[in-house]
Amino acid sequence: MRMLDEHVVLVTGGGSGLGLGVARYCLGEGARLAIFEISAAKAQALREEFGHAVLVVQGDVSRLDDLRRCRAQVLERYGRLDALIGCQGIFDGKLPLAETPEERLDALFDEVLRVNVKGYALSARVFLDDLKASQGAMVLTTSTAAYAADGGGLAYTASKGAVRSLVGQLAFELAPHVRVNGVAPAGIANSQLGGPSALGLEGQKQSDIPRDAFLAMFRSLSLLQELPTPEDHGPLYAFLASRHNRIMTGQTVVADQGLLNRAVLSR
Ligand SMILES: NC(=O)c1ccc[n+]([C@@H]2O[C@H](COP(=O)([O-])OP(=O)(O)OC[C@H]3O[C@@H](n4cnc5c(N)ncnc54)[C@H](O)[C@@H]3O)[C@@H](O)[C@H]2O)c1
Repeated sequence: MRMLDEHVVLVTGGGSGLGLGVARYCLGEGARLAIFEISAAKAQALREEFGHAVLVVQGDVSRLDDLRRCRAQVLERYGRLDALIGCQGIFDGKLPLAETPEERLDALFDEVLRVNVKGYALSARVFLDDLKASQGAMVLTTSTAAYAADGGGLAYTASKGAVRSLVGQLAFELAPHVRVNGVAPAGIANSQLGGPSALGLEGQKQSDIPRDAFLAMFRSLSLLQELPTPEDHGPLYAFLASRHNRIMTGQTVVADQGLLNRAVLSR
């Protein structure tokens, strides 16, 4: 028996990076899978990769109508939902507040929190009844930026702190029917994490950083020296999404290769 046999799983932001790796892993663990993704090009690539095996819905997680359309398609095809895995996100370019033009700050916060926070809240609301009916689970993605400074700029770190709080509040409100947990990764290989248009950074991606430079920075900070692939996160997400998790709700698992587990950089 595989971890996600008899589970219908939806991954939001599953078009690349973490979400795509988690989606691939869940499929291998027997999930009946749907992926929701804003990028038309990525949605098309997903259809080419998975064919009829996966339901791919293109839409914006911050738009209620798009999420309702996604729900209708999930229910039409699978009749239920057992797990909502939230993986979408955008980065803020790690721009210090003092270097952020005052007139851009308003739009920057609106854009980053719309995707990184409101997107999770809206998707939780739209799929609430389905997850209650299935006694299901939610797994939301935050970041080590929610725990320590310098993992992003003000908007990104605030958004990731808010996701930690969403996990706690949702777990409280939805208990005992739906288990809600979070995952806080550090660096992830093969990420296409993009910047906000409020700073004119929508064309920039994490994958633009030369791989060697990113790896060296990561290794200088983390205890485990392998930069994890998105697929490496698969077993953790799959467990938290599954009915095998009978013991955790309201928790965020820091999955950071030991990055936060040091006070002084001694080597
Ligand atoms: N890359 C890292 O090093 C890192 C570290 C810690 C946490 N994270 C978090 O992991 C998650 C996944 O990031 P990633 O690195 O895989 O980046 P990614 O850009 O490769 O994946 C995110 C996906 O979400 C999609 N998306 C963005 N806005 C959307 C919207 N409004 N509606 C639907 N889909 C949308 C993107 O098109 C993309 O396919 C994010 O929440 C990110 O903050 C990433």
